[in-house]
Amino acid sequence: MATPYAYFQKNIVPLSEAKIGVMTHAFNYGTAVFEGIRGNWNDAEGQVYLFRIKEHFDRLRKSCRIMQIEFPYENEELYSITTQLVEMSGYREDVYIRPLAYKSSEILGVRLHDLEDDFLIFVAPFGPYLDIEKGARCQTSSWRRVEDTGIPARAKITGIYANSALAKTEAQLNGFDEAIMLDERGHISEGSGENIFVVQGDKLITPPPSSNILVGITRETVMTLASQELGMETVERDIDRTELYTSDECFMTGTAAHVTPVVELDRRSIGDGKMGPVASRLVKLYFEIIQGKNPKYVHWCTPCYSKVKA
Ligand SMILES: Cc1ncc(COP(=O)(O)O)c(C=O)c1O
Repeated sequence: MATPYAYFQKNIVPLSEAKIGVMTHAFNYGTAVFEGIRGNWNDAEGQVYLFRIKEHFDRLRKSCRIMQIEFPYENEELYSITTQLVEMSGYREDVYIRPLAYKSSEILGVRLHDLEDDFLIFVAPFGPYLDIEKGARCQTSSWRRVEDTGIPARAKITGIYANSALAKTEAQLNGFDEAIMLDERGHISEGSGENIFVVQGDKLITPPPSSNILVGITRETVMTLASQELGMETVERDIDRTELYTSDECFMTGTAAHVTPVVELDRRSIGDGKMGPVASRLVKLYFEIIQGKNPKYVHWCTPCYSKVKA
């Protein structure tokens, strides 16, 4: 039986004991930054592999810098706490690891300075997020993506997820799977929790960071795989909404969503309305890699269980 543990107030405790007070600043004002790391179950090896843990903690560090959160942890210490948590929790399935650095003072007053900071990590089981085989039916959101001049999207700030939640709920209550948000200039930005790619001929195209995207780790992974394994270059440029309607293929990338084809946008089929050949090759490669089954990319995978089958 798996029992979830958390790293909380500098100790590893059962998840049920990791509780914050109602006056915690981050809870009241959205002043926390976080990461989502997948632990992928490899059944043959009896192992959980964390995918690109370094890149996730590097991004967390940048988010902390933007939000003036002190983060006095070395990478090695972070890897050790995270793998230990997963091993103690004992899941034999895919898991999600949530590191979160936050303004922990129990005090009223909106600001970032003169507050205490703390850091926690928890683990939870986490299966598929969107239906990859079927693909996602999407809607252009009536909610625009937050601007760098308002809340910087390149930082993974808890408060920003009000923007994502408004868009996701609007799309789902309208009968779609996912929302695609535009930036203030009307160009494609991203999904509620995914980056967007289109395929046009032999090129991939994806919005640049200046379109107020979270600069995704899966996005970078896909750009690398497209170049190294498919011989396809990725162009980062502004994309109009109608380019998605007319592209050969479109797909979303994210730690939760993996690589999910977008088969419909605003009730228009994209391509032939099914997963296309480029997405199909990337999905296959991606799953092999995140489960530690591709020797060329095994450096992206961190094993958690110290005692595994040979
Ligand atoms: C808003 C948003 N965009 C994009 C992504 C994809 O980023 P990554 O591939 O690093 O998970 C996420 C997920 O973390 C997200 O929340």
